[in-house]
Amino acid sequence: MAKPQIQAVHPSLFGALKAQPQDPLLALMAEFRTDKREAKIDLGVGMYRDATGITPVMRAVKVAERILLETQTTKGYMGPEGDPIFVELLKPLVFGAAMAKSDRIVGLQTPGGTGALRLGAELIAAVSPRANVWLGEPTWPNHRPLLAAARLGVEGFKHFDKTSQTLLFDETIGALTRAAPGDVVLLQACCHNPTGADYTMDQWRTIAEMLAARGLIPFFDFAYQGLGDGLDADAAGMRLVLEHVDEALIGYASDKNFGVYRERVGALYVVSNNARAVYSQAMALARANWSMPSDHGAAVVRLVLQSPELTRDWTAELDMMRARILSNRGRLAALNPRLASVARQRGMFSQIQIAPEAVARLKDEHGIYMVGSGRINVAGFRDDGEIERFAKAVASVQGDA
Ligand SMILES: Cc1ncc(COP(=O)(O)O)c(C=O)c1O
Repeated sequence: MAKPQIQAVHPSLFGALKAQPQDPLLALMAEFRTDKREAKIDLGVGMYRDATGITPVMRAVKVAERILLETQTTKGYMGPEGDPIFVELLKPLVFGAAMAKSDRIVGLQTPGGTGALRLGAELIAAVSPRANVWLGEPTWPNHRPLLAAARLGVEGFKHFDKTSQTLLFDETIGALTRAAPGDVVLLQACCHNPTGADYTMDQWRTIAEMLAARGLIPFFDFAYQGLGDGLDADAAGMRLVLEHVDEALIGYASDKNFGVYRERVGALYVVSNNARAVYSQAMALARANWSMPSDHGAAVVRLVLQSPELTRDWTAELDMMRARILSNRGRLAALNPRLASVARQRGMFSQIQIAPEAVARLKDEHGIYMVGSGRINVAGFRDDGEIERFAKAVASVQGDA
């Protein structure tokens, strides 16, 4: 008997799909890899690098991984909340010892800071679909797509002026004035990506008072704790705001301060008078998204935080990483007056005052790779004259302009 002919009578699902433009940062990374010049410098990728150009596995992380290997007895499922001990141990770091005790704070482990932000955004969309999220720009390029994926409206405002290298606080005030009660304000808690321009404590106080007076909800993106001025200092502005408001969300990343980027370790914390209900809603959303976060990285962070000795070693290594970043900032500023503002900025990034054509010339003529916006990874320099070479190259491509 003849086989029945199967004919495609329906339109193709993917036939009309257009390819996405390539991510400029990934394209830059690929170009860097194929560049044959020995003296090339990569300032594009957003990871800490040591003086030899390596993103190290931190000592305490290595020890914790060994302990985990020896002692783990099961790989059985956890739950959508991930590792609750990890979430609890992280709390005093994030909120300070006193605030961490509050039963108004609930938290879940998430796949990295990205997962925390996405879960927070979905939670907001579930309870308040018409809320706008106010976002200072420039910002981490994933903020807008992430908020849009959760179907939240986004209102941008200017955070920073690259030419004058100043944080535009009046624009923040303007945004907080225009926002409607119930709107959300996404704030980077420290080490602003990409500008390195953080609010002062006085500015945080004004923000806190305005949020409270206007009924706005802060959503903190806290991705670089310890890489600015110190673990507590980097949290100080956020903690001040939390003393003023009834409700807040915090998307936290441990990926950077524990150097476990690819392990995807983060947590979403929510402050609310209805904390238990928020927790169960967040659990349901996590279940529908990733079911449960992967365990390894969080288990490692938990083991470090459970051991006073490993915690001391982790903190010491983190202090050293921060000292290297601050030292690089000071050296850049001292070498080229055009880079003076880099010393005032904090964290892994600065967005220097440079034209896109000059960025292209740095790559073509000097093998120096950085994002077109002028963002540099301050920890991206190897300690063999790269800082000096960069400062000189910047001066040469900028000329007298
Ligand atoms: C400002 C900011 N928030 C969040 C994240 C996300 O971090 P993670 O890698 O833990 O998802 C990043 C990562 O680059 C970031 O720069």
